[in-house]
Amino acid sequence: MAWICLSETDSTNRAAKELARQGASQGTAVLADRQTAGRGRLGRDFFSPEGGLYLSVILRPELPREQWSLLTPMAAVAVCRALKQTCGLSPGIKWVNDLYLAGKKLCGILCETAGAAAVVGIGLNLRQPQGDFPPGLNAIALPRAVDRDALAQAIVQQLLALCESLPDTGFLEEYRAASLVLGRAVTVHPVEGAPYEARAQAIDGLGRLVVVRDGMIQTLDSGEVSIRL
Ligand code: BTN
Repeated sequence: MAWICLSETDSTNRAAKELARQGASQGTAVLADRQTAGRGRLGRDFFSPEGGLYLSVILRPELPREQWSLLTPMAAVAVCRALKQTCGLSPGIKWVNDLYLAGKKLCGILCETAGAAAVVGIGLNLRQPQGDFPPGLNAIALPRAVDRDALAQAIVQQLLALCESLPDTGFLEEYRAASLVLGRAVTVHPVEGAPYEARAQAIDGLGRLVVVRDGMIQTLDSGEVSIRL
């Protein structure tokens, strides 16, 4: 495990992807106090002031590329395990990459590829930022003080343990058990096209969400869903 700890960077994912392309090994982790251009899924910005945990980890999974959709659920389970271990918290997971506490977003995950490697980026609200979260984010911070470095270390350990166990996907059971969407009415927001109403029926063996729309089954591997929390 190699750590690169920065006070500020544009994006730890950007930095980790550069390191991965230069050959950095599995477990290399970039941690920053704040990001000036934090990135979220679907091309969004990720609000990244001081008081958050901004972590990107390089993985070199022994898994065919077609199965890399498993990496985001795997990372979500790693963060849940680390939160349980360090502060006894059990957040819910909103497919595919968001961790929620009390109906508000605590953590987002962005997995990207960099050549033969994957970079798992984790942004978690450790503390309420100065001046609070911007309205509209529906964000929440951890309810009690947690040492950032201890939590980051626990996340990386859990992530590496799960990655080294691949192709075992037993972690999907934990992912399903923590799911906030399974069995619920959801609004699907496809990457392209108009949102539609459906029921979330299952999470399949690749971590994809199976929904029923007007009696027809559809399997989602991109886009996102919203629910009334
Ligand atoms: C999302 O909620 O859409 C995903 C957010 C992922 C944010 C993390 S913070 C660390 C890493 N660096 C980034 O630029 N993004 C990820």
